[in-house]
Amino acid sequence: EVYNPNGKYRVISTKSMPGTRWINLLIEQDCRLEICTQKKTILSVEDIISLIGDRCDGVIGQLTEDWGETLFSALSRAGGKAFSNMAVGYNNVDVNAANKYGVAVGNTPGVLTETTAELAASLSLAAARRIVEADEFMRAGLYDGWLPHLFVGNLLKGQTVGVIGAGRIGSAYARMMVEGFKMNLIYYDLYQATRLEKFVTGMSYGQFLKANGEQPVTWKRASSMDEVLREADVEAILINCSRGPVIDEVALVEHLRANPMFRVGLDVFEDEPYMKPGLSEMKNAIVVPHIASASKWTREGMATLAALNVLGKIKGYPIWGDPNR
Ligand code: DGY
Repeated sequence: EVYNPNGKYRVISTKSMPGTRWINLLIEQDCRLEICTQKKTILSVEDIISLIGDRCDGVIGQLTEDWGETLFSALSRAGGKAFSNMAVGYNNVDVNAANKYGVAVGNTPGVLTETTAELAASLSLAAARRIVEADEFMRAGLYDGWLPHLFVGNLLKGQTVGVIGAGRIGSAYARMMVEGFKMNLIYYDLYQATRLEKFVTGMSYGQFLKANGEQPVTWKRASSMDEVLREADVEAILINCSRGPVIDEVALVEHLRANPMFRVGLDVFEDEPYMKPGLSEMKNAIVVPHIASASKWTREGMATLAALNVLGKIKGYPIWGDPNR
């Protein structure tokens, strides 16, 4: 699919992306935009090399693609100066290789913070209240009347939520769980967790609860990941909305099997798009296909930022998301 065929700068998007704002931005700025229409979900390095061809000024790519030495050298040979991932994560991008070939790299931070945190909160609630299991039970026609023991789950209020990684998304999630569900908080981060600390230390919410005769919430910075796991009550529920390999999925399946009360909500998988054997049969696991950032507003925002990143480099404006910064 080609937009503005006579545009001066050739920009490629390896996938169609939501919204039209990103398309308009590029064509208004004299770009010839080519959107790859290949049906397969994951493009190989070879597929992308043939898209780049002999001349290409910039590429908008996806987190499923392997942006390493081979692709950056091909892009640089074609005169390309800019690449943007349509994602905040860039573990699929070798930034050193991009630097070596003089290609600027961008990502899309900010626009997906709340959307991703909302999915993490949704998974937490769905796991705590066994919503997916209960839905399956209803659809299977098994409900034959109210029972005291039917799908009893956990109350979140007053329990301690543990957050590992208190960056933008972790902090937004922590805030939702504390303010929304009156949970206590323990968090861990390798770095100063400025965003979260501003929230917890300046938090008048605890005082508000106290003034209203409620138990005030507590919060604490942990000195290790183990401390979080030891102290968090939502230890019985594990949510992963980051990247699959942070969890050993084989060990997880064993643990789920041995501990039916342990629950997990997964948006990402160790060997994505595949799940390790056994995981799909586990009733105490909720699995969704990497949709944490999938709200219309966010996905359109990500597409727009990715286009701005590429355009920025071509036109000499600053790049929004720059991992080198
Ligand atoms: C990201 O942006 O890194 C997410 O994994 C997908 O939105």
